[in-house]
Amino acid sequence: MCGIVGFTGRQQAAPILLDGLEKLEYRGYDSAGIAVAAAGGAGTQDKPSAQSGLHTEKGSSIEIVKAKGRLKVLREMTDDGRSVPGTCGIGHTRWATHGEPSVLNAHPHYAKDRRVAVVHNGIIENYQQIREKLTKEGFSFLTATDTEAAAHLLDKYYSGNPIEAISKLMFHVRGSYALGILFADRPGEIYAVRKDSPLIVGRSEQGNFIASDVPAILKYTRDVCFIPNLEIVKLTETEIHFYNVDQEEVEETFSQINWDTEAAEKGGFAHFMLKEIYEQPKAVRDTVSPRISEGHVNLDELGMSREELAKVSRIQMVACGSAYHVCMTAKYMIEQTARVPVDVDLASEFRYRNPVMEKDTLVIVVSQSGETADSLAALREAKKLGYHVLGIVNVVGSSIAREADSVFYTWAGPEISVATTKAYSTQLAAVYLLAIGLGRAKGVIDEIAETEMVEELSRLPEKIERILEEKERIQWFANKFSHSKDIFFIGRGLDYASSLEGSLKLKEISYIHSEAYAAGELKHGTISLIEDGILVVGVATQKSLFEKLISNMVEVKSRGAYVLGVTSYGNYSMEDVANYTIYVPKTMECFAASLVVVPLQLLAYYVALGKGLDVDKPRNLAKSVTVE
Ligand code: G6P
Repeated sequence: MCGIVGFTGRQQAAPILLDGLEKLEYRGYDSAGIAVAAAGGAGTQDKPSAQSGLHTEKGSSIEIVKAKGRLKVLREMTDDGRSVPGTCGIGHTRWATHGEPSVLNAHPHYAKDRRVAVVHNGIIENYQQIREKLTKEGFSFLTATDTEAAAHLLDKYYSGNPIEAISKLMFHVRGSYALGILFADRPGEIYAVRKDSPLIVGRSEQGNFIASDVPAILKYTRDVCFIPNLEIVKLTETEIHFYNVDQEEVEETFSQINWDTEAAEKGGFAHFMLKEIYEQPKAVRDTVSPRISEGHVNLDELGMSREELAKVSRIQMVACGSAYHVCMTAKYMIEQTARVPVDVDLASEFRYRNPVMEKDTLVIVVSQSGETADSLAALREAKKLGYHVLGIVNVVGSSIAREADSVFYTWAGPEISVATTKAYSTQLAAVYLLAIGLGRAKGVIDEIAETEMVEELSRLPEKIERILEEKERIQWFANKFSHSKDIFFIGRGLDYASSLEGSLKLKEISYIHSEAYAAGELKHGTISLIEDGILVVGVATQKSLFEKLISNMVEVKSRGAYVLGVTSYGNYSMEDVANYTIYVPKTMECFAASLVVVPLQLLAYYVALGKGLDVDKPRNLAKSVTVE
């Protein structure tokens, strides 16, 4: 989604804004812009040129510069920000929702005479109505965006009191928003407000910041506050004030970010994705080890007693994207280990399907960012219905983390690449821990079984390391298939869930059409698509299903498919069928998803690399989908 940065302080703002936007480019990257309150800059000539993808506007005390394309265009245009004077400004990188990617539709948007400039992340759902109403009142709209409605509304309500104008806007706007706002007659001041879209403030000796996410300002400060929902913030060079929607000042607490900027830098790797793949052993270790003591799983942080856990009669899991695949894996794992039935829904479906759920259902929302709009809405729906919601979340202090009744953090650290890898692996680890804890609370597994599982879980990081040591085999194979048109993944049971993730990873970053099927379903339609040379990846780690999967592989091979087998060491009969086989270390079958996903991630990475694509920033995608 879009990324927002703002700075007011003692230094020139534009270079800081561009720097921050660069760290947020993962959120969206079709255009970018900055608005800077140029000290004493009022009265320069208008230069409204939308030609050549670049755009500069002057004429009020707010200078706005926008460019279509990647941030580097805006950098070049402003000499890395140096050519835009002023120490207070806001910036934005856009991922288009309303209106095509263009200079005109790029943020910041502004009201007449640029009395107000606005950057926005989210979707204003009633923007059409606002637009119609304001048009009748004489406001003229220049762009196709929903954001422009917010700029005009603020202009309409502003009569010298920004907090009042913003709170009036909050009463009229439906949807989600994080807004960064400059008022031309309030030099040195930034205003911000958020509803259901993430926004943080940071403070430092040099000045104060707003940002969509921590990496944008980590170079300057670790002292941040996650702005609570529906609060307004006023920032000056030295002060930060919070207000509720009734315009009353409220106190908020700041927290210290304890991870390093380095964690958000590439550190010698060609791409964030590869770096994050390599960080998986550490991320899994960091997620598992604090929850284990003397062979037992400790779930105290959930704030649920053993009795409460034992009472859980059903689990409803909701998530989007890869996190949804984690839920698919969790279903098998939890049902086997704790004998609790698990239903899995896409958050975008769950939120509207008026679910029928039993009284003692535990709702689990899985999300890396903790800000995915559909997952957040699903959480709220479940809470409204009176269910206990547990969030499995990576970003500390994110909306889902704050609104869930219990939180179980995955300690993956910041994940920058759009295609998730290490967060996925830590989510798997988190559901294993929950499954074991639940299994014990319910008396389904005994102490010995728990200890065995815990020991094996602790060995997963070193097994992932071993897979990474063999990455050249996958790289070699991937190069052969980087020009494929279609690639299929098949698996059964847990391996079906892993196939879904392998297929998603591949299509996200390589743009190759790919589908994953429960292997037994192939012959009910999909097998008609198999023809000469098509790559079919068969994932087979479950002993009881191994022969079945082998039969499915034979079926596709006999129809011309080229078959890649992914299985555990020891299952050497795979080679009787597969044209090429990748082995992962042996583990307990219930943990196999954590190992097979690694070669599938590497396959996707190297196929995309072979096609010369921008692995970390695939087209049309955003890391954190904070709009519906
Ligand atoms: C986006 C990302 C996916 C991610 C999904 C859910 O689509 O590109 O990688 O799995 O959102 O995100 P979340 O932050 O809720 O895990």
